[in-house]
Amino acid sequence: MENVEQKFQSAIDAEIKIEPRNWMPDAYRKTLIRQISQHAHSEIVGMLPEGAWITRAPSLKRKAILLAKVQDEAGHGLYLYSAAETLGESREQMINDLHSGKAKYSSIFNYPTISWADMGAIGWLVDGAAILNQVMLCRTSYGPYARAMVRICKEESFHQRQGFDILLTLANGTPEQKAMCQDAINRWWWPSLMMFGPKDSESTNSDQSMKWKIKRKSNDELRQNFVDMCVQQVKVLGMTLPDPDLKWNEGKQQHDWGEIDWDEFWAVVKGNGPCNKERLDARRNAWNKGAWVREAAAAHAAKQAAKQKQ
Ligand code: ACO
Repeated sequence: MENVEQKFQSAIDAEIKIEPRNWMPDAYRKTLIRQISQHAHSEIVGMLPEGAWITRAPSLKRKAILLAKVQDEAGHGLYLYSAAETLGESREQMINDLHSGKAKYSSIFNYPTISWADMGAIGWLVDGAAILNQVMLCRTSYGPYARAMVRICKEESFHQRQGFDILLTLANGTPEQKAMCQDAINRWWWPSLMMFGPKDSESTNSDQSMKWKIKRKSNDELRQNFVDMCVQQVKVLGMTLPDPDLKWNEGKQQHDWGEIDWDEFWAVVKGNGPCNKERLDARRNAWNKGAWVREAAAAHAAKQAAKQKQ
């Protein structure tokens, strides 16, 4: 006779999705709440670096596209908070954990956006990295997370194309515009590689998450896919990637690349990146400024409920 834990693993092995009402080990639930809430926070904090450029976009068309993109990120965040709520975590708790600095969010959003070309580099590299990771998550074992990812991936593909289009325009522009394009690629390349997380040998959660099919590819596997993809795409831009050690490995049929600065990665993850403080302050302020909206919505809902009872 299989016990519940074995039955659960058998369902995972048979590719049967786990749904909110199904039995699941506590550690599976906790891992999902951790990952999905971190993912949601990343989408929400991720609006800030690009939001800063909405008023400075170079044309009405670019402004409309950027505005739509940032709105999409808000939608992704809300989708993901809802997915985490199905596991029994309250949204209030998740948001408190973000604001108190307890919860993590992606390291990438703690870097500054100092030129318009950064909008291109974020779309191409950051959203490109996010897609590789999230395509795998469309097949993750927890049903609500997997389903949320399908729509999110479609929107992320649009985000990546719009980023590449910004860079391509700059790459075909004046010498100053070309230099802006290269500078943005130089600054965003290494932080983008860090998005995939620590090396597999240092990844504390990977083994168990792979067994539960929450993750389907390891951090290093996805990072390798990303490097191989970008090496091809950067040629279309006529730009270069800032890594003298990047080269084709005939034996592996993949690229090798230089060492990531892991001290920088952990410093950013632990709250000491260039913009960590600014990002959290912005989120806390937005939350406080929105208090009257939440109060008004709650008062309105209470009135409606009272009317229905009459
Ligand atoms: N930034 C901040 N923290 C990170 C990062 C990163 N780039 N990479 C790893 N970490 C953290 C992990 O959260 C974990 O910390 P915790 O145990 O305290 O939660 C620790 O470093 C060790 O890493 P892993 O054991 O490898 O963690 P995990 O198995 O969760 O893998 C990964 C990390 C790949 C990011 C995974 O959580 C994931 O796939 N998340 C969903 C996708 C996502 O969040 N994307 C965010 C950016 S995309 C976007 O918003 C546009």
